[in-house]
Amino acid sequence: MEKVITKFFNSDKLPMVVEPADADIKFPEFLDLLSQNKESFKRALLNHGGLLFRNFPIHNEDHFAALIHGLDHGKFIDYIGGDSPRNKIKDGIYTSTEAPPSVKIPLHNELSFVKHFPKHIYFYCAIPAPKGGATIIADARKVYQGIDQGVKKRFIENGLKYVSAYYYKSRVMDFVNSLQRSHKSWLQVFETDSKKDVEKMCRENEFAFKWNKNDWIQLSQTRPAVIEHPITKEKVWFNQAHLYDFNPKLLGWWRYLGAKVLYCQKHTRLHEIFFANGSKIPRDDLYHVLDVLDANTISFPWQKGDVLVLDNVLAMHGRAVFEGKRRILAAMTG
Ligand SMILES: [Fe+2]
Repeated sequence: MEKVITKFFNSDKLPMVVEPADADIKFPEFLDLLSQNKESFKRALLNHGGLLFRNFPIHNEDHFAALIHGLDHGKFIDYIGGDSPRNKIKDGIYTSTEAPPSVKIPLHNELSFVKHFPKHIYFYCAIPAPKGGATIIADARKVYQGIDQGVKKRFIENGLKYVSAYYYKSRVMDFVNSLQRSHKSWLQVFETDSKKDVEKMCRENEFAFKWNKNDWIQLSQTRPAVIEHPITKEKVWFNQAHLYDFNPKLLGWWRYLGAKVLYCQKHTRLHEIFFANGSKIPRDDLYHVLDVLDANTISFPWQKGDVLVLDNVLAMHGRAVFEGKRRILAAMTG
């Protein structure tokens, strides 16, 4: 690679850290460097699963967007069908999850429950949190290898059914979200207020949908638990079953009990997960998955101006808890 220095933080070699050979590099030169090294970066990403651009002059969301264009992985995609609360900054650029700082977001591949999931995801650190707040990552190939054979077999043979519910207008949900932003309306999930457009997007994305009372919508998707990377053909654990089952290990006891009360009516439950035939997934299996994710977690502190680029199939991401102000932007390409 030209005009860059590469290194690793850990023996997992994820991410590969890319730094400028010339510390005084200007933004136009950085774009030239991206274009010269484009193919090498693509190869490195397929090998390691993630790249961290550090100490480059990336000062705002326009620079971030230009970097993404420079890497040339395809078009920006919107966060349609996503469950995490985010704010849209500009086309294709969102704030990373607005979930409360005290909530850990476990590792996952972005939108793995959607047929047209993003191939790459990008994070830009505008403001690192003073305490905590790492974007944790893991190699999804290693997670696949770490899962117990029996659990793997059950998940692969059965496949998964994700069920989620989103509201239209609800004072109760507005109140809940004012306490803790956690449950989106379908207007936010689909970025429209037209039921017709929602139905069209559901068909395009192969979401089964059902309108319930008070204009709640229930979505369900049947997806595999494991996929092969489209280029490298490596097998990866690629599902969000562990995020769709609300249990004490995932949420902690207080939030778990709160969710039990809030979601006593079945048609309002934010998430539920089943095997594709509708049968229950043993909770011990889901706990085992959370343990394997913990054992494979890679964490490093953000530095202002960092950009993390992940192959969304090879690498998982999540968020550590934090204190203070933190601003991380995210984008995806299809
Ligand atoms: Fe995510």
